[in-house]
Parts: sequence; structure tokens; C-alpha cells
Amino acid sequence: MDPVKITIDGREVTTAKGKTVIQAAADAGILIPHYCYHPKLPIAGNCRMCLVEIEKMPKLQIACNTQVAEGMAVLTGSPKVLAARKAVMEFLLINHPLDCPICDQAGECWLQDYYMKHDLQPSRFAERKEHERKREIFGPNVVFDGERCIKCTRCVRFLQEVTGTGELTVVNRGDRSTIALFPGTVLDNPFSANVNDLCPVGALTDRDFRFKVRVWYLQKTPSICPGCSTGCNVSVESYQNRIARFKPRVNEEVNSYWLCDEGRYCFHELTEGERLTGPLVRQEGGLAPATWEEALQVVLRGLRAVPALAGILSGRNTNEEAFLFARLMRRIAPGASLAVAYRERTLDAVQKILMSPDRSPNFRGARDMGVDSDGAFDGLLRRLCDGAFGAAYVVGEEPERYGDAGAIRAALERLSFLVVQDTRMTETARLAHVVLPATHFGEKEGTYTNRRGRVQKLNPAVVPPPGALPDSEIFRRLLERAGEKASFRAPAEIFAAIAAEVPAYRGLTYEKIGERGIPLSETEARGA
Ligand code: SF4
Ligand code: SF4
Ligand code: FES
Repeated sequence: MDPVKITIDGREVTTAKGKTVIQAAADAGILIPHYCYHPKLPIAGNCRMCLVEIEKMPKLQIACNTQVAEGMAVLTGSPKVLAARKAVMEFLLINHPLDCPICDQAGECWLQDYYMKHDLQPSRFAERKEHERKREIFGPNVVFDGERCIKCTRCVRFLQEVTGTGELTVVNRGDRSTIALFPGTVLDNPFSANVNDLCPVGALTDRDFRFKVRVWYLQKTPSICPGCSTGCNVSVESYQNRIARFKPRVNEEVNSYWLCDEGRYCFHELTEGERLTGPLVRQEGGLAPATWEEALQVVLRGLRAVPALAGILSGRNTNEEAFLFARLMRRIAPGASLAVAYRERTLDAVQKILMSPDRSPNFRGARDMGVDSDGAFDGLLRRLCDGAFGAAYVVGEEPERYGDAGAIRAALERLSFLVVQDTRMTETARLAHVVLPATHFGEKEGTYTNRRGRVQKLNPAVVPPPGALPDSEIFRRLLERAGEKASFRAPAEIFAAIAAEVPAYRGLTYEKIGERGIPLSETEARGA
């Protein structure tokens, strides 16, 4: 693109032809206040919050819809601009309710923030405010409050341009204009909750999250969605050691600004319910508590005693865990059959915008670490049902969910020795000879490799219950007892071993992965 030189507030900025003033300013780290503009949506130009002064232009211009031109001089904070911004804010707040104390957007509301920064004047509006619909359910994940809406149309444009489902529109005119569902529709497309993120005010809020916790109490941890192998970048937001919500983290290489609803809410299923807090070993009367020392001894003895060993790893296990699991199983039984749980489903055109057909976020990484995937898992389940194995080590999965549940359950019951490592007492765990309490995705550190070969970092957002250990630590302790003098302990050290031993990961470090991840192809190409 042709370079274009402009000045913004006296600062020289080199940008490109075709860019708008708001984009050029953002690239230079200058934030021009805005509501309706969003980098991934078509321009609407309706909120007027982004007005700027441009030399030689008689009127203020909206920065979101004005293209840069050589020599353009832009002022974002001149007296004229500040006065216009104040007027826009006053206008937007005329009918706005005094809802902040009970509004779930408070603390991350652009009206609040811009009022404090650009307005700070008492209301001069003495008349009766317009009342509108409140608490209207738009869909399973979205609730609408008409009085708080500033008609920026971000939600409408998202549904028209990104999902193409078009459930919402603007109806009526003037101060009666409002956002509404098309008659007979429900806002329930696979990406519906993104409108809650897009809404700059408290007009659209998340039914799952609202009224649970004030946003300023949230602890935010950058991590990766465990919902499928797209590997969307998320901020895991927690309060009092519980995950309260996922928010998207922008990564143009993966998920842009979006998350699918399935992934956004998958933490409920993966983290809630009563946790296992100590190892259990089968005795005469059933599963009984044991120490880690006892349980790990029984595991090693049991796995070694029975020929034909199967190892099933969850697709939510990290690369570090898969690396140690493969190493452990090969050490115990070099001929062991290993597979990562994997199942595909058919996606429709809207789901395909982001979602992968599996629910195994790290199936590709597990395969890189030596745990087979794809067809291998079906083959392993078939052989399990045919009675080909005497023992199995199942990590973080319920194999019954992946095929003929009755036949798989019967096959697991027939095994001479079954180890189940999981966070909760699952149906599979009830059949086990030893149950080992582990941690879930939100409690561990490590890496996932997504479907397209991008290595990304998972960070612990909450603390595991006492008594549970990360899968990697359980494998490491077993490896040690099996006679391997492994020098690594922390996930970073295991990752260093991966980078040394697995060719595609050669030379990688956590620092190189950073917060946005790194594609393996880049690792290979630069000979890292
Ligand atoms: S509901 Fe929110 S995103 Fe939609 S038009 Fe109103 S303020 Fe904008
Ligand atoms: S597309 Fe996959 S990775 Fe992305 S949010 Fe959905 S489930 Fe999570
Ligand atoms: S951001 Fe430019 S008019 Fe709304």
C-alpha cells in the first residue's frame, strides 16, 4: 500500500492509503473515542463520538469514516472537538437510566468511562426520560435492556456481516428507535454471545454471567479455549477461585475478536461438580482412600503385571502431559497402544466460521508427542471391545461417550486392571482399580498445538483443590518410580525437553510462544 504522511495532534504519523483516521491513529497508539466503530465491522458512522478537527475542513469530521490524505493535519483534542464530544455524550445520556449500580456492564462500560473522561457535567435534562423495554430475552445467552441502548448497531452489523444470521434490526425512528428481534426469531446462533462483548454499554448482557460478580473483582488470565482444536485465545476470568467467564482475546491468526458460544461456556462442564481430592484404590469393599505413595505403587505394579496395555489420553491434556504420558507408557510396556480421544461431528456453515469438528483442543499436539490420534482412537476402542487389552490407563476421558456405551463399558469392566485419572468421580472412574485425582485446563500450565499447528500457552487461572495433582506431576512421579531419572519437573522444563527431542518443536521456548502463540511452520522455517 502507498505510504501516506499525516499529523495527529502535531505528531507525524506514516500510514497507508485507504486507512481511515481512526485506524491510522490506533496504529500510532492514539485512541480516538468511539462507540459504533469496530475494526471488524462495516462502518456505520452513527454515534458521532469520534469527531475530530481536520485542518482546512470547515466542519468536524468523523474519524471512523474519513480516509487519510497526504499532509492531513488532525486534531483530536482541540477546544472544538472537546465541546462536540461533550455534546455527544450529553445527547447519548438524555434518556439513559441511572442504572449503573445495578447494571452488569458497570466497570467495563464505555458510557461510564467516556463520561468520566470527556463529559463530567451534571444532566441538564429536566423532562421525563423515555422508558423502553427492559430485561427482554433475545436468546439463551443474551438479554436486552432497551433503555441502555445507544443504537450504535454493532450487534445488528455483527449478525448481518459476520454470522449472516441477521436476527436483529433497528425499528422506529428518533427517540423511539430501538433494537428488536425479527418476528419469530431467537438470537441463538452458534456465536450469539459475541454481541454481549460488542455492545459498548449495558444494553446486551450475558445471561450466564450477569449478577454473578462485579467485573472489577475478576482476575484475568490469558489462556486458550479448551472447547475444540481451533484454539481460540481467551481471557479466563475468575473470582474466589472459580472461573466466572471466558472473554475473547484478540488474535488475528486464530479467532480475531470472536468466540463460539459452545467454547465460551464449556468451562462449566469442565470445571464444576465435586472434585476428587485424594487417590482411591480398589479393596474388597470397593474404592478406598490411599496415599499417593501407595496408589502409584499399585498403578505401576498393576500396569506391569498385565500384558496388552491401552493408554487413552484426553484431547484436553497439554503437550507436556502427552509427552510424559507417551514416555511413561513406552517405559512400562513398549508395545502399548496409545490414542488421544477424538471424535468428529458435522458442522454447518455458520459453525464453520470458527469451530473445529472435534472437542479435542490438543489432539494434534498429543500426536506430535507420540500419542496417536484421528483414526487411531476408533481402532483402539474397537480392539478394547474385542478384548485385545488386559489393562488400560484412561486420562481425563469417559471412553463410553465415544461409541457404543454399553459395549465399551462392558469391555472396561472385563479389564484385569484399569487406572482412571480425572478431576471427578466419573462413570469410568467407578469401574477403576485405581483412581488418581488430577487437575483441569484452568488449573494448569502448559501448551496446546491447535489444528493448524500453532503452539499456544495455557496458564493457570485457579488453584486446584488440595490432594489433586496436575497430570504432568502424576506422570513424572510414575516415571521416577519406574526408574527414569527425569531432570524436568515444572511444565517449562518439560517443554524444554520437548523442544530438544521433538523435531517440529526444536528451539521453541515459552518466551517465543508469547501470548499469541507461534506456528510450527515458522519454527521449522527459521530453523529455531
Ligand atoms: S444493543 Fe448495544 S450493540 Fe446493539 S445497538 Fe444497542 S448499544 Fe449498540
Ligand atoms: S471455536 Fe473452538 S476453540 Fe474457539 S471458542 Fe469455540 S470451542 Fe473454543
Ligand atoms: S465511531 Fe465514528 S461515528 Fe461512531
